[in-house]
Amino acid sequence: MGRFQVIALELIGTAQALVADDKGLLAMDESNPTCNKRFAALGIPQTEEARRSYRELIVTTPGLGESISGVILYDETIRQKTKDGTPFLKIIADAGLIPGIKVDEGAKDLAGQPGEKITEGLDGLRERLEEYAQMGARFAKWRAVIAIGHGIPSRGCVEANAQALARYAALCQEAGLVPIVEPEVLMDGNHAIERCFALTEEVLRMVFEELYGQQVMLEGMILKPNMVLPGLTCPEQATVDEVADATVKCLLRAVPAAVPGIAFLSGGQSGELASARLNAMNVRFSKQLPWALAFSFARAIQQPALEIWRGREANVLLAQNALGYRAKCNRVARQGNYPAAMEGE
Ligand code: G3H
Repeated sequence: MGRFQVIALELIGTAQALVADDKGLLAMDESNPTCNKRFAALGIPQTEEARRSYRELIVTTPGLGESISGVILYDETIRQKTKDGTPFLKIIADAGLIPGIKVDEGAKDLAGQPGEKITEGLDGLRERLEEYAQMGARFAKWRAVIAIGHGIPSRGCVEANAQALARYAALCQEAGLVPIVEPEVLMDGNHAIERCFALTEEVLRMVFEELYGQQVMLEGMILKPNMVLPGLTCPEQATVDEVADATVKCLLRAVPAAVPGIAFLSGGQSGELASARLNAMNVRFSKQLPWALAFSFARAIQQPALEIWRGREANVLLAQNALGYRAKCNRVARQGNYPAAMEGE
């Protein structure tokens, strides 16, 4: 077997493992500015040591591997160690978790298009991916951000982000890393669910066209999309079942069957709503879908734990319980048993 065939088989195996056994991903890849913003809101010091302690709390949560297949790390975190000097990567491997890494360099203002963003980070990406692969990462993540507003998004914004996602994904596969392809249509705004539906469909169609153009192997990637939701300030909010129906209908139109898994972002939904909506999708459709419907949440898994921890050593165990609980809620949601299976816990 040639080198490329070996890499292809590894990519397919990793992509399948990331969505196997009703598990999902835990995104713990907040950039330093984002992590600091969340810490500041809770009065936690915004220092490297505080970020390290918090990430130690996450990766040492007992039983995390029962619900989580892989963790997405940030450049600072992948190089860090626990207080007793054990590399996080060893803790992660011992817990049976697959390590991944955020490789985009953030969403920057798109020239000439006020209110729109383009994700940067392609320059030097081949070399960075090589380094991460040598360190032991087996997948990567790149997030594109599309805002809905008056006159936006422009076609130029959607095209530029889709192209960057595809170029990133091709480079990942060349390096033997499974690309998590994340085009996020934001929840901010007062738009109706139909607008989010139409735009999410357009974005996904364009992303898959660009992935095809860059010869990305669909069997060796994971899609990380938003759910189809009304804007946060839309007067007409949707029921859990309406969100499940709209989201699956949209994905069926735009996502090829060769993709092994779809792992949603939470995008600012509460942990409970994100689990309930994922559950409804799996209850109503899982038997008829070509891909697994999984999760890759950050806030919807971490937020309660962060609020309990607040930077205090004495709160670590309680915070870990909260983190493990939300992770389990989402595994159960993949089985279509949330919240019934969680009653009494
Ligand atoms: O890129 C975004 C994260 O990986 C997912 O974060 O679940 O808080 O939206 P979120």
